[in-house]
Amino acid sequence: MSDLSLHDIIRKRRMTRNFTEEPLAWEVIERIVDNARRGPTAGYSQGVAFVAVTDAATRARIAEIAGEEWYVKSGHEPFMSRAPLALIITTSEEIYHQRYNEPDKKAKGQEEIGWPIPYWHTDAGAAMMLALLSAVDEGLGSAFVGVYDPSELQRALGIPEEHLPIGIAFIGHAAPDVPSGSLKRGRRPLETVLHREKW
Ligand SMILES: Cc1cc2nc3c(=O)[nH]c(=O)nc-3n(C[C@H](O)[C@H](O)[C@H](O)COP(=O)(O)O)c2cc1C
Repeated sequence: MSDLSLHDIIRKRRMTRNFTEEPLAWEVIERIVDNARRGPTAGYSQGVAFVAVTDAATRARIAEIAGEEWYVKSGHEPFMSRAPLALIITTSEEIYHQRYNEPDKKAKGQEEIGWPIPYWHTDAGAAMMLALLSAVDEGLGSAFVGVYDPSELQRALGIPEEHLPIGIAFIGHAAPDVPSGSLKRGRRPLETVLHREKW
């Protein structure tokens, strides 16, 4: 773990799209996931779970599912198969329905809440952020990528159907990478996103 402040960790974090092949000790992986599971979850439902993959052949399959070939054709390093850890973040909608049908979450005779916001997704995002920040705290780089067909990850890793993979955090020692073209957009200035007192 580092001596960096949270302020510095947040500013140091960026999607790192290249890694060395240096493996990660399981203690490091456990610390990252232990942090990630401490995120807030609606009703303390804790529907987020993780699959940590270090096996090279399985990582290669995950990279294939995540479309590494396209990234390489676009000028990136094969950062997905190279990362010593592929951390799949999953969330279970079912666990939230179960939790919100418990007596303290439902007034007598009332229906389960209407879920205007699917909190299983917000909670998975919070866990993802904690994993990425924890990687920085461990002196590592990370890149979160989505997959077009999460069921392929479920099949490859034996993830039960109700646990939806939201994507993969590739984590390892950072190596020189090609910056994403998206960064050219620049970060929106604070004053355009901070609405003071009212929008
Ligand atoms: C929900 C989500 C999905 C993302 N999916 C991808 C992806 O599929 N591939 C990728 O290279 N980056 C992906 N990114 C990374 C973003 O492109 C990146 O966060 C953004 O460009 C800002 O760069 P930074 O995180 O390095 O500051 C994703 C980020 C988030 C939050």
